Amino acid sequence: MTQVPALERWYVDHGRHELPWRETRDPWPILVSEVMLQQTQVARVLAVWPEFIGRFPSPPAMAGAGAGVVITAWGRLGYPRRARRLWESAVRITTDGWPEDLAELPGIGRYTAAAIRAQADDSDIPAIEVNIRRVVQRVTGTVLGERAAEAASVRVGRGLHGRDRLLALMDLGALVCTPRTPTCRACPLRRRCATRGPLADEVRHRQAAFAGSFRQRRGEVMSALRDHPTVPVADLDAEALDSLVRDGLAVVTGARARLP
Ligand code: ADE
Repeated sequence: MTQVPALERWYVDHGRHELPWRETRDPWPILVSEVMLQQTQVARVLAVWPEFIGRFPSPPAMAGAGAGVVITAWGRLGYPRRARRLWESAVRITTDGWPEDLAELPGIGRYTAAAIRAQADDSDIPAIEVNIRRVVQRVTGTVLGERAAEAASVRVGRGLHGRDRLLALMDLGALVCTPRTPTCRACPLRRRCATRGPLADEVRHRQAAFAGSFRQRRGEVMSALRDHPTVPVADLDAEALDSLVRDGLAVVTGARARLP
C-alpha cells in the first residue's frame, strides 16, 4: 500500500475547500479571485467576489460593461488600478481569446498566471505567493529567490501536484505556518522542517499605513467619483486626481471629473 503524504492528509482534512472560487475550474472567475486576493484579505474578498462575479460572469460580460462600471463595482476593495486592468484583460480575452501565457494580460504576473493555470487546468507549474514562500523557506531553512522557491515548493509538496500542491501549501501557510506564532505541533511537515518557526532573517512585507497616505487621498477622490456622475475638479484633491487620470481611473473634461 502506498503511503498518503502527511501534507495531503492535512489538506483533505483542514484545507479551505469552502472558499467559493475553489468550486469552479473556469479560469475567468479564478482570475478575478486571484486579482482581488493579490492585495486584499480573504475575508474582504469573500464579501465582494460572489456579487462581482455574478455581474461579470465572463470576459465579454465585463468588456461590454465598460471600465467605469467595473471600477464602481470594485467598490472599496482598494488598489483600484486592479479593476481597470481587469477590465483591460476582459477586453483582450474577448477580442483575441485567452493567451497561451496568462502573464501577457494586464495585471497578471508570474505568480497569478501560474496559480490560475494550476487551479483551472491542474497545471504542475509551481507558483509562489506569500504563504507558500513562508512555508518553503521555513522547511528548507533558507531565504529563497523566486525561482529557487518555486523549485523548493515542488520538493516540499512532494506527492502532491498541480492544484492540490498549490492550495495545500497555501492553506498550510495561512492556517498553521503563520507569520508570528506558527502552530508547529499541528504541522504535517514538522518532522522535516529545518526551523520549526520563523527564520531569523525572514522578510516580512507589510502594507504601508493607509491613514494619512496618498492612497487614502486617492481613495477619497475615487469614492466621490463612484457616488456622482461628475464632480467639480475644484472639489477634489488635485494631486490625487492627477494620478488617477494618469492611471486611467478618472477622466477630466473642462472643470469636471468622472470615471472613465
Ligand atoms: N485560493 C486560491 N488562491 C488563493 C489565494 N491567493 N488566497 C487565498 N485563497 C486562495
